[in-house]
Amino acid sequence: MKLLTVIGARPQFIKAAIVSKALRDFPIQEEIIHTGQHYDPKMSQVFFDELGLTKPSINLNVGSGSHAFNTGQMLIGLEVEFLKRKPDWVLVYGDTNSTLAAALAAAKLNIPIAHVEAGQRSFDRTMPEEVNRVLTDHLSSILFCCAESSVANLKREGIEKNVSNVGDVMYDAFLGNSSNAEWPSHVKKRSGKTVLVTFHRASNTDDEARLREILDALSRLSEQIIFPVHPRTKKSMEFFKLAVPSNVTMIEPLAYLELLGVLNECHAVITDSGGLQKEAYYAGKPCVLLREQTEWMELVSAGAAKLAGGGPEQILESVHWALGARVGSHKIYGEGDAGKKIAQTLALANGTSP
Ligand code: UD1
Repeated sequence: MKLLTVIGARPQFIKAAIVSKALRDFPIQEEIIHTGQHYDPKMSQVFFDELGLTKPSINLNVGSGSHAFNTGQMLIGLEVEFLKRKPDWVLVYGDTNSTLAAALAAAKLNIPIAHVEAGQRSFDRTMPEEVNRVLTDHLSSILFCCAESSVANLKREGIEKNVSNVGDVMYDAFLGNSSNAEWPSHVKKRSGKTVLVTFHRASNTDDEARLREILDALSRLSEQIIFPVHPRTKKSMEFFKLAVPSNVTMIEPLAYLELLGVLNECHAVITDSGGLQKEAYYAGKPCVLLREQTEWMELVSAGAAKLAGGGPEQILESVHWALGARVGSHKIYGEGDAGKKIAQTLALANGTSP
């Protein structure tokens, strides 16, 4: 069976590395296409080097642009590649523009799609990711969920066939890599408590007032703040001429093992990232979510994360909570064997009717 995996953004490299490795135990020929959505070496190449992910057959190099421009460029490029490479299945991950473009290009050519991280819902259609998730799920023939709540979300939307709860591949990645985690050698560690901060969602970076609020809250914390800045956030701070608060250590995006190194040593996490909020939980670190809702609600219900989509006071109150909170280990997103389960199902997929 010939499987074509399409990836393009940072979290997808980590997820694909897990599944690709598991696929090697089965008679599946996998090829990888990189859309080029993320192109900075620290957002892309470093993950291939570190995680041993198979080199992509081609990089479409779509780069930056508006959502329509980006997604459109990917659609055009992927159609050419799908026609040339003739895959039996296309495999996509998560909720980025690369995910949707691949799903749409495959669906138009009647190539069946398998979607990893299916059924997540924030119920906020203003998020580009939510639109990408819903549409991708409705185009997919095999849907791999991380939790029972995602299975239920799909059922509510009339999708019940070939849906399974396999758990989260990022948990596999965390378990497999955390013993090799290392604090980044270029970052000086102060004594006292450390807080890891990342954010890059449009709702937090593109609105000057909101961005100011977040930076204002960070400036009022006394802990060491480690802030690996996403290029999008950096560009917005430059555009709005907003300075980094002096107590914040702003650094380039971290490689995966370095990020896990900081995560293991920090006392709390502040983020709007879908991936990092789960990784914080896996590492047992309380997490403040710079969002009004999350598609990972189990984390909030389990007392591992708190939503803080409001102003600086709410953010500070939540950080205060996080610095005193304890995170239990409930295994809410599977057992850490999602990659194997996905590979097993895909190996039988030729007989699956779309
Ligand atoms: C994308 C995903 C988001 C995911 C995130 C992980 C979509 C709609 N969003 O968000 O779900 O959580 O990736 O990081 O697909 N940029 C660079 N260099 C890069 C990458 C981005 O400079 O290597 C800048 C560009 O100005 C670009 C902007 O960041 O226009 C936004 O990048 P984009 O890939 O569109 O979205 P992300 O914010 O990274």
